[in-house]
Amino acid sequence: MIDVNQQKLKSIEIEILKLKKYFPGAKNAVLGEGSPKARLMFIGEAPGREEDLSGRPFIGRSGRLLTKLLEGIGVDKKDVYITSVVKFLPLKGTPSRKEIELCLPYLWKQIDIIKPKVICLLGNIALNVVIDKNLKISKVHGRPQEKGGITYFPCYHPAAAVRNANLIPILREDFRKLKMLVKRKKFS
Ligand code: URA
Repeated sequence: MIDVNQQKLKSIEIEILKLKKYFPGAKNAVLGEGSPKARLMFIGEAPGREEDLSGRPFIGRSGRLLTKLLEGIGVDKKDVYITSVVKFLPLKGTPSRKEIELCLPYLWKQIDIIKPKVICLLGNIALNVVIDKNLKISKVHGRPQEKGGITYFPCYHPAAAVRNANLIPILREDFRKLKMLVKRKKFS
């Protein structure tokens, strides 16, 4: 049986698909995946080539690292919701301001529908767009930030750790803190 949140997510899907014309290099929309009632949500930057081809978030190299990090803290991917700020493959790797602005209203709608307790922001783009454009992930990673009744937890983007293995132990430690945070929220 399709639940109410799932239905609401489906209805914004139709609107998001209309944005495809602004992303000439993209084959598919990458909306998000996971539980529509997740207490924990992950927000990345934008799909890469593999995600674009499959229409699924975080299935490439950085996605495989994200899966490992989740397994490391005993969290099943199907119990969380994973998406990105931008829902299509950006024209030039890093999303432009316009590409971000086109997709952002739908990220807010996804958050509003799912109502997670904790949102893990993966990388600077998610951090800057969702919390504050002046924050730097290198300064605030692993430190929860409260805003509008949601606890945001910034982490390095797994793609950064794919490029620089020194970040892997930092990400592992931050995910351990994230697990403790989600556990505390369950009982508050
Ligand atoms: N990086 C992201 O930010 N999102 C994806 O879906 C894949 C890689």
